[in-house]
Amino acid sequence: MKEKPFVPQEELARQESFVREIAGIFGGRKTYHIVTLGCQMNVRDSETLAGFMGEMGFSPAEKEAADIVLYNTCCVRENAENRALGNVIWLKELKRERPDMVIAVCGCMMQEEGMAARLQKRYPFIDLVFGTHNAYRFPEYLYQVLLQKRRVFEVETSDGVIAEGLPALRSRPHSAFVNIMFGCDNFCSYCIVPYVRGRERSRNANDILKEVEMLRDAGAQEITLLGQNVNSYQGGEFASLLRLLSQTGIPRIRFMTSHPKDLSDDLIAAMRDLSNVMPQLHLPVQSGSSEVLRRMNRRYTREHYLSLVEKLRAAIPEIGLTTDIIVGFPGETLAQFEETLSLVEEVRYDSAFTFIFSPRRGTLAATYPDDTPEAEKSARIQRLIDRQQAISQEILSAQVGREEWVLVDDVSARDTGCVCGRTPRGHMVNFPGNADSVGTFAHVRIVSAGRNTLRGERIDG
Ligand code: SAH
Ligand code: SF4
Ligand code: F3S
Repeated sequence: MKEKPFVPQEELARQESFVREIAGIFGGRKTYHIVTLGCQMNVRDSETLAGFMGEMGFSPAEKEAADIVLYNTCCVRENAENRALGNVIWLKELKRERPDMVIAVCGCMMQEEGMAARLQKRYPFIDLVFGTHNAYRFPEYLYQVLLQKRRVFEVETSDGVIAEGLPALRSRPHSAFVNIMFGCDNFCSYCIVPYVRGRERSRNANDILKEVEMLRDAGAQEITLLGQNVNSYQGGEFASLLRLLSQTGIPRIRFMTSHPKDLSDDLIAAMRDLSNVMPQLHLPVQSGSSEVLRRMNRRYTREHYLSLVEKLRAAIPEIGLTTDIIVGFPGETLAQFEETLSLVEEVRYDSAFTFIFSPRRGTLAATYPDDTPEAEKSARIQRLIDRQQAISQEILSAQVGREEWVLVDDVSARDTGCVCGRTPRGHMVNFPGNADSVGTFAHVRIVSAGRNTLRGERIDG
């Protein structure tokens, strides 16, 4: 196994000294706001950045009022990028009124070649830019911005590091994200993630265990293990890691994302045998055509994928499967798209995230000839969405009458007097309740199915 690229202890201590200096000068007097775009990786990274600011004595505030506004960006598709840029440019006006505010941009998009330089030149109102590999140096950069009044643009091209022991202000303490690995070595031909997140590297099982124990002791009821491909975890087998973490007694364990090429029988057995590993799996298929999968460099076939689904269902009959699908990959024929539709019929996913292919500079697929008109791609994705929506609806309707343990996640955004939370399988349920119950388990009977969620009533008082 390769030597792990841990950030040295002295370097982490140096960052802590910046935190203390900033806290001494500004502690209790500054507010911040973090906007997080993209996936759970970014959500988790933002929790670390919020953790640093908490230690600096800063408190969270609305975007319009905050002294420091930080954008954690995503670049997986073009619309994610446009959204990030649009948002940042909007802040320019705000900064005109409050010149002291600090505008910072970080995350995956900053790792794209030339991006930081472009922002530095074009957007003089941006004070700070850093990337995914040097986020642990945020205290140092903020120090330079706040105390030396410098604009700081620091992005590192690197295979990536592992920084242990950073602070974290978790957005939902009862349901915590835990990184188990970083980066990706799969190089799916359409995907920019391996370029912006660096090489695959795994945390030590012991460090993960300690973090999970700490979270459990602080009251976490659920953890979600994060990695771009958790099945290629290198600190031992992923299934063994699950067994180890299961013994902490944390009530619920979930994980994402699983790559179909690396999903082992042992993992299926672990999911079946460990009662606190939830019967839910996000297993991105991307396409139902083996030929398209080959050109996507996914390294499995339609048949292999379907055989995995069969094994999973045989071992865990109640498993809820979800997926990601790309429509309109360069050269995808109508017949190949229809293979995706038929796969969706066959698997019957609980839900699916569907995307139109977005060419990303630097990836192989961006160079593939693509002669499918955009209108045709839109028509295809709509057919897929309609079909999946109908299947999701049937699956939700089949839950009516069941009794489920739901981990209350939040107060319901839409229904006053209601809370929402997930069943073991991952279905969202709304039911009457108040904020006090967030983070506790409720025994709920499902009474009806809505478009994307279930309605329930408590049967435990
Ligand atoms: N590591 C995860 C997810 C990475 S990105 C995995 O392997 O599944 C999340 C999803 O975005 C992908 O599953 C894919 O469906 C989609 N995606 C990635 N690159 C894309 C692109 N260039 N165009 C459209 N969708 C893309
Ligand atoms: Fe991207 Fe493929 Fe890696 Fe997922 S496995 S992050 S889709 S390259
Ligand atoms: Fe986006 Fe980076 Fe995640 S590109 S999808 S935020 S790893």
